[in-house]
Amino acid sequence: MTKRVAILFSGSGSNMVALIDSMTGDHPARPVVALCNTPDAPGFAKAEARGVPTELVDHRDFKGDRPAFEAVMTRTLDRYAPDIICFAGFMRILTDDFISRWQGRIINIHPSLLPKYRGLDTHARAIEAGEAEAGCTVHEVTLELDDGPILGQARVPVRPGDTAEVLAARVLEQEHRLYPAVLRRFAAGDHTPVHLP
Ligand code: GAR
Repeated sequence: MTKRVAILFSGSGSNMVALIDSMTGDHPARPVVALCNTPDAPGFAKAEARGVPTELVDHRDFKGDRPAFEAVMTRTLDRYAPDIICFAGFMRILTDDFISRWQGRIINIHPSLLPKYRGLDTHARAIEAGEAEAGCTVHEVTLELDDGPILGQARVPVRPGDTAEVLAARVLEQEHRLYPAVLRRFAAGDHTPVHLP
């Protein structure tokens, strides 16, 4: 049976677009909603242009009351009955209650070769540490931040003189290849890690 995919994003939504565009033909999943937590995110127009329903749950309306924010997120997601939730540049940390409710069904893309560089500023930290290679990881979301079984990784070189922005752009290109490849496999029930290139 075709899997129903909810995609959560916060900003530009380029990974969301890569996922939506990949779910055609014999793909075992289809996008059912793109949900965002920031009203002015450029990603909204991109999802709408692709005919995918969008939802806004603005975290600022909840003034730091995370459980209340998550209750509305959950109610909203429930209306679409997703089988899989893809975090695609979704920049909110969620409570254990939220994660537990969906555990095993949430996957995330993170712009580093986990377990290295959990958290933010991954590219600047990789350059600062003198890494020769960087990359991105798709993993199952568990209660630990940027942890959970790895479902795929893609690697890129760090070149002399790279700024964080230059490296981020190089990694992002690979994110757009990796995430669709992992989702296709995950939606088919196969959790074998994807390694690119
Ligand atoms: C991507 O690079 C993604 O890996 C990163 O945010 C960017 C979102 O770009 N995610 C995280 O840092 C999560 N901790 P996009 O909105 O264009 O997909």
